Amino acid sequence: MPFLPEEASTFARHVDGLYLFLIAVTAFFSLLIGVLVVWFAIRYHRRSPDEIAAEVHESGLLEIVWTVIPFGLVMVMFVWGASVYFRITRPPGTALDIYVTAKQWMWKLQHTDGHREMNELHIPIGQPVRLTMASEDVIHSFYVPAFRFKRDVVPGRFSVAWFEATRPGKYHLFCAEYCGTRHSNMIGWVYAMTPADYQAWLAGGAPGESLAASGARRFVENACNTCHGEQAGARGPSLAGLYGRQVHLANGQTIVADEAYIRESIVNPQARLVAGYPPIMPTFQGLISEEGLLQLVAYVKSLSPPPSGAEAAAPGSNPERKAPRP
Ligand code: CUA
Repeated sequence: MPFLPEEASTFARHVDGLYLFLIAVTAFFSLLIGVLVVWFAIRYHRRSPDEIAAEVHESGLLEIVWTVIPFGLVMVMFVWGASVYFRITRPPGTALDIYVTAKQWMWKLQHTDGHREMNELHIPIGQPVRLTMASEDVIHSFYVPAFRFKRDVVPGRFSVAWFEATRPGKYHLFCAEYCGTRHSNMIGWVYAMTPADYQAWLAGGAPGESLAASGARRFVENACNTCHGEQAGARGPSLAGLYGRQVHLANGQTIVADEAYIRESIVNPQARLVAGYPPIMPTFQGLISEEGLLQLVAYVKSLSPPPSGAEAAAPGSNPERKAPRP
């Protein structure tokens, strides 16, 4: 049994480096304190019942040393930890989009082209994979130890996270948040494949309807198109090119339309109203499943052009989101 699981993602070695540093510092000070406790007990124990303790005066130098060294150590932990955290939390601009729905007790994974998987995820290595995750019921947590990847999936919001696998293999997927009786069965596998194998896998199974197409169907079913159409004088703003664009709100703020904003505008339309439109849209809270919301978001994303110049891994990847890797 190895001490740490296999390192199979780009940030695994950064997480492990930090983790081993924390263990080394902790082990060093635990040993130091343990040894000093024993040594002081022997060296300074009371030798006769009437022995009087010697008076000890403080040492300024000693106090400075034992303040500055721990301060330096925790600052190293802070800066190092923050840099690893930022690396993990900022999805790169171009990534393969995967949509995840968690529910008691399974993982549903959807590729933009329509491939759907249950408790299994096939991905290529050497390419960032961006997960947009939603929960139908309680809090779950998407955990792939070999990727050092763990992100809670919380009901009522999207969790967006990413990773990039570095070596082909079959890796355990766990739910890492207790979510009910069969939490321990909410497990699966991630298959990291070479790009060629991945293409072969994609070509193998017949994909269903693409996510954007499912979303387009729901868009019409819920009559969204009656207000958010292209016709002149439409009651709601057009959604073409919305994703990734700056939006001016009625309250004077300006935000960038991302997945979370689009989701919120469906379930709670009045929360961040677009400037120039009356607050007439009804809420769709409870009327559309989380899976449906993911499909609608994929549809709205598909109405925006992919980032120019970049190799478009996924329709609707957001150029605004391109974050420099630290
Ligand atoms: Cu889902 Cu534990």
